[in-house]
Amino acid sequence: MARAAGILPLLDRIRFMRVRRASAAKNRAFLEGNPGFSPPPLWWMHDMYRHTSFDQYWRTGRETSAVIAAKIDTHLDAVRPRIADWGCGLGRVVRHLPARYERTGFDYNPQAIAWDTDHIPGVQFLKNDLLPPLPVEDASFDAVYALSVFTHLSAEGHKRWIAEIERVLAPRGIFIGAFHVRPPAGQLLPAEQAQFDAGELVVRGGVKEGSRTFTAHHPEAYLRDTLFKDFEIVEGPTALFGQTLFVVRKH
Ligand SMILES: C[S@@+](CC[C@H](N)C(=O)[O-])C[C@H]1O[C@@H](n2cnc3c(N)ncnc32)[C@H](O)[C@@H]1O
Repeated sequence: MARAAGILPLLDRIRFMRVRRASAAKNRAFLEGNPGFSPPPLWWMHDMYRHTSFDQYWRTGRETSAVIAAKIDTHLDAVRPRIADWGCGLGRVVRHLPARYERTGFDYNPQAIAWDTDHIPGVQFLKNDLLPPLPVEDASFDAVYALSVFTHLSAEGHKRWIAEIERVLAPRGIFIGAFHVRPPAGQLLPAEQAQFDAGELVVRGGVKEGSRTFTAHHPEAYLRDTLFKDFEIVEGPTALFGQTLFVVRKH
């Protein structure tokens, strides 16, 4: 209803003020306990993560990067693998990946890329546009991962970005993606649920594409038969902090 009325961005702003107030004391304590920590911009934290907690940003980033590193090390045998975090946001995950990887972060948000570049050493950050291409040559990476990025794209975005990921992956390179595969009961409207049950991608737009409130839900059949049709699925579906992870390999 709020989406149809066009007031979702306003409600999200109000929510931000509430969330920021609620996390202020704990954030002050976190900064006191971690004097070397540069706090990311709170609005962009809320825009991406729906929270403004420094502790959560740091802790979940470390935990998620351990999962991603384990997948990379399981499925690749390069000594210094070239890894890309597409839709890296405020570098939550890529900053914690092992320094023995050659790390690149991409995002379409110029403020995020500017903050990352200024605050996260050892990682190259590059801006892209809402639609491809990425500013790199073919076969530039051994692995690309995208956490909660396809979950905010249109059907056209899905089609164009999976082809772009395939382009920038080296032969036999892997893509690791997190998707909305299991919507909680009652989350989708009846018509959306029917579409989902029929194996079709469900997209809720009406706001800026790529933002948190623009959402896409992915039936497993859609991932297997459409999105990953040109890849080999090597792992998944695996639960990952409320989303579902797949690892696929380029032929
Ligand atoms: C929900 S946040 C997740 C951020 C990060 N992957 C993480 O897990 O911490 C979604 C991110 O995708 C980025 N994004 C959305 N559409 C994009 C696009 N077409 N190209 C690059 N980044 C995009 C947003 O700017 C945002 O940083």
